[in-house]
Amino acid sequence: MGAVQARMETVLQRLLPRSEIVPERLHRAMHYAVLGGGKRVRPLLAFAAGELADADPARVEIVAAAVEMIHAYSLVHDDMPCMDNDVLRRGRPTCHVEFDQATALLAGDALQPLAFQILTEHVVADDPGAQLEMLGILAVASGSRGMAGGQAIDLASVGKTLTLPELELMHIHKTGALIRAAAVLGARCGRGLDARQFGRLEHYAKTVGLAFQVVDDVLDCEASTATLGKTAGKDAAQEKPTYVSILGLTRARVLAGELRAQAHAALSTFGAKAARLRELADFIVLRKF
Ligand code: IPE
Ligand code: IPE
Ligand code: MG
Ligand code: MG
Ligand code: MG
Repeated sequence: MGAVQARMETVLQRLLPRSEIVPERLHRAMHYAVLGGGKRVRPLLAFAAGELADADPARVEIVAAAVEMIHAYSLVHDDMPCMDNDVLRRGRPTCHVEFDQATALLAGDALQPLAFQILTEHVVADDPGAQLEMLGILAVASGSRGMAGGQAIDLASVGKTLTLPELELMHIHKTGALIRAAAVLGARCGRGLDARQFGRLEHYAKTVGLAFQVVDDVLDCEASTATLGKTAGKDAAQEKPTYVSILGLTRARVLAGELRAQAHAALSTFGAKAARLRELADFIVLRKF
């Protein structure tokens, strides 16, 4: 994990506009939002899926950076007063607190197209048609039928009691979509998977994507602000429907364990090449931060 995290820090640094370039303040805010923190779970999934598909890591680092830029932008906007109104992220003041709201808004606005720009400037697939499809995968995962749509459902659900299927739909969109895209795009950098194997990888990615947000909900309730690097207990305080509010802590943890088993089952035919993906399913469910 440390190797991928260090590699991503360098790659992201290289792909971001230099902070000395005009407009400096916006560029500094973009660096602040992307660099120096974060577990880099989405890049880790891209690299692990890339390994499964015999992908060139030089391609995978580009798609991983693109997904991470979308993720970083989603966090900047998620923390703003009009959404979750959070002051702490990755152990530091949130972007709008460190800079200001307009700059944070623009940093997100600029990170999103930068993700697509880098996918137009680097070769990540064998032919242009395949690469165009990859751009489409990231676009759908980020937009109203993906992350942004999930965030809209999240905001519209405050104070409501959702049914389990409704909650699952929200989580699959707001968090699952980008996580799934990370794994799918990592695998698409290579040629090593046939259609059936690809289907299994997609099933794995969907499962860990949901598990990721179930565990995020559990940690919001049971971990401390110090270990999370973001304000704990916010979901209950803001009356967000979560797996903890609907199922309770114990059943939410049981569900995360079941999803972990499902993720492993999806990989059962793969052998040693899926070792990293298995480890990541374990990390996503067993993590403490
Ligand atoms: C937090 O994501 C927001 C969710 C989608 C649950 P991460 O837990 O991946 O945040 P970082 O990138 O490690 O800070
Ligand atoms: C955010 O979910 C998901 C995103 C798309 C950013 P949360 O609002 O639960 O994320 P945290 O807990 O603030 O990291
Ligand atoms: Mg939120
Ligand atoms: Mg939030
Ligand atoms: Mg949360």
